[in-house]
Amino acid sequence: MLQKPKGTYDIYGDRALIQLYFRKLVEALMDKYNAKYIETPIFEASELFHRGVGETTDIVSKETYDFKDRGDRNLTLRPEGTAGVVRSFIENKLYAENLPLKLWYMGPMFRYERPQAGRYREFYQFGVEAFGSDDPMMDADMIGVVVNLFNILGLKGVSVNINTLGDRESRESYRKALLEYFKPYLGDLCEDCQRRYEKNPLRILDCKIDSGKEIMKNAPKMIDYLNEESKRHFDKVQEYLKAMGIDFKVNSNIVRGLDYYTHTVFEVQADIEGFGAQNTLAAGGRYDHLVEFVGGPSVPGVGFAVGLERLFLALEAEGIDIRKCVYPDVYIFNADEKQKPYVLALANHLRLAGFNVEIDYKTRNFKSNFKRADKVRAKYIIIIGEEEVQNKFLTIKNNVTKDEYKVELDNLIEFLDEKLGDDDED
Ligand code: HAM
Repeated sequence: MLQKPKGTYDIYGDRALIQLYFRKLVEALMDKYNAKYIETPIFEASELFHRGVGETTDIVSKETYDFKDRGDRNLTLRPEGTAGVVRSFIENKLYAENLPLKLWYMGPMFRYERPQAGRYREFYQFGVEAFGSDDPMMDADMIGVVVNLFNILGLKGVSVNINTLGDRESRESYRKALLEYFKPYLGDLCEDCQRRYEKNPLRILDCKIDSGKEIMKNAPKMIDYLNEESKRHFDKVQEYLKAMGIDFKVNSNIVRGLDYYTHTVFEVQADIEGFGAQNTLAAGGRYDHLVEFVGGPSVPGVGFAVGLERLFLALEAEGIDIRKCVYPDVYIFNADEKQKPYVLALANHLRLAGFNVEIDYKTRNFKSNFKRADKVRAKYIIIIGEEEVQNKFLTIKNNVTKDEYKVELDNLIEFLDEKLGDDDED
């Protein structure tokens, strides 16, 4: 039998519900930030990622899905969302709009990594890219989106880690310091790092092979090479985060696995016991030269992406079920065939009034209907028999407490509003 490719998974059943609910929640949250939705192609010209994400990064040098199409074009399945959004921002001249412009996306990304818990070859990201402001206020606001999202979901065991990579000038003095520091140890570094030393020594700090070595621990720290402007930017980000009541740690080890960052970088980690190695739920930072680098005007940007699989694992680890809201509010069934039109009309009426409604399409017996109502996790059950139709009242059962109510048809919406409102407050 044919099977799904290694490192991929199907989205169905409970997981599909979680994904759909998450999307709804994100849509509502993005409206609050005046962020606009964007979709870009799943594949792009390979050159975009080589240029944008960086030739010497692991993502580009080892993990991309590259292919040639039948027209001999070099294409790559997107390993991340930022480069494509930047390409689209330039190509569609979105910079001519009223900046700053915040764009959000949610979709699959592809990296040829070794699959393990929380690490896939096809995985989903929700991300935001904010263009047109170099103010540290935007950095703080973007970190705030992630923190708010996790708070709304009720996730508790997370920590926000921030660092700065400084501006170009600071990066250059840091680069020189790294070259000088690593020079005598070149032989101790892995082959990749020896190449990185020539091309992009900052990447050495991100090496998975060399990361545990003593020489890494004593390597120069970016924070000691910041110029005044970079220091000021980072101080402001921290001041704004404090003003928003966001707890964070400055962690000088965060260099990020992509080349485009300047100034602020951040990662949000799950601190849940036994969670596993893949504990970075969200990550991002500022990229003030990327738009220009990809061929556009000089427009600064800052953004982040949340990994959906890891986030859902973290929610599961904390026993949080975000599907609660997407079960039917009401399950309606009829005693015999004759009441079918009534059931359909009532279901329509309730759906238009904003309730989630499931009905019995088959006229099952009572026992099977109660079973099905449980299976679909309906909150209330309405049973329609001859008497209910004649006398315009309804028999409603709370499917959890099993309490039963007789309600006039005219009072039904009010009744459900009140009851479901109460339930939500639990
Ligand atoms: P990234 O750190 O490469 O950044 O990925 C962001 C998040 O995607 C990670 O923190 C993780 O949750 C998830 N992720 C990455 N790789 C995998 C994988 N193989 N399996 C499952 N989840 C994964 C970026 O992609 C940047 N584009 C973020 C950004 C946006 N920076 C600025 N704007």
